[in-house]
Amino acid sequence: MIKLDLTHALLKENVEDYANKVKVAHDMLHNKTGLGNDYVGWVKWPLEYDKAEFEKIKTVANVVKDKAEVLLVCGIGGSYLGARSALEMIYGLYPQLKTKVIYIGNTFSSTYFKQVEQYIEDKSVVLNVISKSGTTTETAIAFRMLKQIMEKKYGKEECKQRIIATTDACKGTLKELAMKEGYQTFTIPNDIGGRYSVLTPVGLLPLAIAGVNIDEIMQGALDAYHTFNNDDVKTNIAYQYAVARRILDNQGKKAEMLVTYEPHLQMVTEWWKQLFGESEGKEGKGLLPTSCTFSTDLHSLGQFIQEGSSVLFETLLLIDKPMLDGTFPSDEDNLDNMNYLAGKSLDWVNKMAMQGTLLAHEKEGNVPNIILTLEDTSARSFGYMAYFFFIACGVSCYLLDINPFNQPGVEVYKKNMFKLLGKN
Ligand code: PA5
Repeated sequence: MIKLDLTHALLKENVEDYANKVKVAHDMLHNKTGLGNDYVGWVKWPLEYDKAEFEKIKTVANVVKDKAEVLLVCGIGGSYLGARSALEMIYGLYPQLKTKVIYIGNTFSSTYFKQVEQYIEDKSVVLNVISKSGTTTETAIAFRMLKQIMEKKYGKEECKQRIIATTDACKGTLKELAMKEGYQTFTIPNDIGGRYSVLTPVGLLPLAIAGVNIDEIMQGALDAYHTFNNDDVKTNIAYQYAVARRILDNQGKKAEMLVTYEPHLQMVTEWWKQLFGESEGKEGKGLLPTSCTFSTDLHSLGQFIQEGSSVLFETLLLIDKPMLDGTFPSDEDNLDNMNYLAGKSLDWVNKMAMQGTLLAHEKEGNVPNIILTLEDTSARSFGYMAYFFFIACGVSCYLLDINPFNQPGVEVYKKNMFKLLGKN
């Protein structure tokens, strides 16, 4: 379901030379012996996920689907990026959904909050608040305000049917609040951190409410688990990708740009940035994960990539079969001189743009290109891709002797902010 092509990556070392280090990293992930080993629950999750809770997700989603015009997903970072990236990848940017999903609790912007409040005023709303810690400030502020708005609109009793909390199994403010208020709750496993949680209720509940086939997502993840549960870098393309990143890092390429040619994959690039950025960017090490959507951004950052400082490499995330396609029409008058494309598919044009850009960036710009090609943008491919990036990220970090599962640097801004906000 994913193909990896390293022939344009301009690697100066041999991927297979890392075979022993990869075996060690693989064992650390699978045997829970590496740094952050309390948080490797995602490794076997596609096999071992809680089947009863999975069925409960589907049951609750069916009820919510019928009553909600809007589903508010209230969460930040790993508590919303996965669901949003999956939804856009699978459905595109303008789907005709019975239940529209709106993301909130991921910013302090007053304008954003008030505009959502106005938008939902006359709509039937269900709220899924998602926070593992239960104390994240962006999420907590939005949740308190939405809770009051909804209690005013529906009354406390009806809110028991309309507010769902996804949080830790037994501890945290949100868990306690949800128990007291009688909300339905879903569990974020103890041993799975936020950015590795899209295959848990964190991602699956919003997706199921939006009508995504979550069985397909888990099937994709399981296929990936079986494919990549193999410590041999000669055959494991997730590990080849992880090693190629390290080799390019050694070659002085300190930024990885994930490039998509599909605007509906832009949120996948955001999700990927969080996964790799928070996992790897510590102790003065790691690649800066950045992203572009081509050809759109060829008209903004294309110049820099081609001829600017030589700091980055690209990883192309290509789609073999697009979600939708069409044919470019012929025109009798041809006033725009575009008849040379008549009869060609729109996706063919996109793919030719990709090939032309690859040639320019690699051959003339000397920019290494790793190419990942995903079969399609289905739910199954999403599950497969998510697991591919998880396992590649874990090994990439272990190759750097980094704990992939903590984020100590994120606490610094919070400390300063709490002081300014007067929090004790
Ligand atoms: O990956 C992570 O752990 C973080 O990015 C969290 O997902 C994010 O900070 C939100 O945390 P919480 O779910 O505790 O509100």
